[in-house]
Amino acid sequence: MSDTEDKGSALLTSRRDVLGLGAAAAALTLSDKTWATAKSSPGGGLQSLGYMVVPGQDLDAWSAWAPKVFGLQLADRSASTRVFRMDEYQHRFAIDQGAQGPTYGWEVADGRDMDAMAARLEAGGVKVTPGSRALAAQRCVADLITLSDPVGNSLEIFHGPARASTPFQPARTMRGFRTGELGMGHVACFFPLARYEETSRFYKELLGFRVSDFREVDGKRVHEFMHLNPREHSMVIAAIGDHTRLHHIMMEMQFLDDVGQSYDIVNRDYYNRIAATMGRHNNDLMTSFYVRSPSEFQIECGWGGLLIDPKRWQEAEWPNSGDLWGHQLMQDGKPTTSVLGAPTERPLATPLQVYGENFETHHRPTKLRDILKTEPLR
Ligand SMILES: [Fe+2]
Repeated sequence: MSDTEDKGSALLTSRRDVLGLGAAAAALTLSDKTWATAKSSPGGGLQSLGYMVVPGQDLDAWSAWAPKVFGLQLADRSASTRVFRMDEYQHRFAIDQGAQGPTYGWEVADGRDMDAMAARLEAGGVKVTPGSRALAAQRCVADLITLSDPVGNSLEIFHGPARASTPFQPARTMRGFRTGELGMGHVACFFPLARYEETSRFYKELLGFRVSDFREVDGKRVHEFMHLNPREHSMVIAAIGDHTRLHHIMMEMQFLDDVGQSYDIVNRDYYNRIAATMGRHNNDLMTSFYVRSPSEFQIECGWGGLLIDPKRWQEAEWPNSGDLWGHQLMQDGKPTTSVLGAPTERPLATPLQVYGENFETHHRPTKLRDILKTEPLR
């Protein structure tokens, strides 16, 4: 063993002691040499958030809530699961009574890229397990591998998602979700500060996430928004609280009106479950609201998220107000202490983000009926 490797091992031992790593994270090797090897490994890398599987005991509540509020299509059900579609994918969002925690499903292009990711992770000291045929069938994918991140989250890396033979049919009147190469949305995971640096390095150096923007406290990063594709962030990690938890899943709708109608339904039928009122973020420019799900983690329902050029994007510190307007935090139907500044202190909004699929610049209707082809809320 060289001097350098020896120093690496000594660092590893003291680092584990300082961070108090548990058994799930013990497989991670943190010597600089190992991580440098992992970084230089080939492979196409992760493309997007392909699916989420979350724990949920009250399947009836989920079956009623998700279609009614967001228009998610109930695609499959068993005694212990519910599977929802949000586009042509057969499996995007699943509730599993038997799940101990959330599972994050990350998509790669093909089997070669999946094998390259497995090799890269193993070179980084991460235990990787091939997914069984039964698990692949359950997830409606050609093949997958499973692993854990440093804070114990269950991750799956898959390729070959099954497409449904029928078009996505929303459960309520709405015009679909913005997915495709952007994936099903983004996720935000909170965990203790003591685990931050190691977890951040895992996502960036081993899984290949790139930072879009970040927040620091006392010169140390505590919050990072990370991208894999043009969606401004597919994953958020934050040192908040004393245990690991899924804070929210963001689902982006194609039309602002559909977000507004979801907000109407929540205000009408689930007002006490609103976690943040309608508002607009000042990093991904998402116009959205947050609502607590039947499993308590939140769903952010949004529109108009910023697309970036991943090849040219330069990371930057996140403006500290967090929002251009709105997103008043709520608990049990009442405003709580907000992390936001007073409205007058917030920066001016940039022009409203719109994108090619859902606006027309030269539309000149001749009668109101051409515009208002909406149907009443269900
Ligand atoms: Fe979000």
